Amino acid sequence: MASPQAVAENAYPARVHPLPDAIDHWRAEREYWLGRLETYYLEAFGVGLDRLQTDDATTPGTRVSVIQDVAKSNPDAFFATGARGILFYLQELRDHGVDPASLGTVLEFGLGFGRLLRHWLPIGPELFGCDVTPEAAGYCEELFGDRARIHSNAEEPPLDYDDAQFDHVYANSVFTHIRGESAVRWAEEMVRIIRPGGIAIFSALDDNVHLNNLSERELDQILLDNDGVREWGRPGVRENYRYATDAAERRLWSPWFEVLEIRRHFKDQRHVILRRKP
Ligand SMILES: C[S@@+](CC[C@H](N)C(=O)[O-])C[C@H]1O[C@@H](n2cnc3c(N)ncnc32)[C@H](O)[C@@H]1O
Repeated sequence: MASPQAVAENAYPARVHPLPDAIDHWRAEREYWLGRLETYYLEAFGVGLDRLQTDDATTPGTRVSVIQDVAKSNPDAFFATGARGILFYLQELRDHGVDPASLGTVLEFGLGFGRLLRHWLPIGPELFGCDVTPEAAGYCEELFGDRARIHSNAEEPPLDYDDAQFDHVYANSVFTHIRGESAVRWAEEMVRIIRPGGIAIFSALDDNVHLNNLSERELDQILLDNDGVREWGRPGVRENYRYATDAAERRLWSPWFEVLEIRRHFKDQRHVILRRKP
């Protein structure tokens, strides 16, 4: 029988939809979520969808496997999950009193292949994205052209941005891959680049989704032993994971941010929603 530690090392099972159902599944999800997004844009901002939100030729295909689940090489899955994800972020901003159309500068930290950032294009802020994986940053530089400023960044701060440069910063599934003291250094860098009063949203793993291969007893023991944090996997951007309880997330961010909310999303990551203290 596998030891609890061995079981834990294999945590974070990918969401698998058996073929050929998976093909129909993602097609239906894409149609549904892009439809939801289109309606939302029209009602909230009076705009429609951009080509980068609908054209399969703008998706990275199997290149995604450098940074994420290969299921997203399917354009339907790429667009479906991106549209659903951005709807969460935009709604969270609005729920906390920020009209996304009022923002001047927005940064996605760890933008990958632009699965989410592209959905800001019709809204109109000045867009920035950066990533530590050169293939991802290079792809996005070409994809966005002069419509967003994309940078490759180093594994450790600082980023090449001014203090308080951004009205809004978000990172989807990035702090989930940064461990130990590096998470604190990157948190401090996020503080530096966002303006006082600005909203930051960082996604975080969800225990019911991403740790559900552990027994209740194993998870309790791990969290008791590690101050509410579980880190595991291999070094590198893909298979390197950090989970923290709500209390541990609050401990990480609250020196500089008001923690407005930690929102759960069905079968997905939590979002830690923060406002930079003055
Ligand atoms: C799971 S992918 C998510 C990509 C994108 N945010 C999305 O949702 O499609 C994680 C991304 O974070 C990037 N990343 C990890 N550590 C980083 C760091 N220290 N600085 C910038 N990017 C980082 C990886 O290169 C990768 O592109």
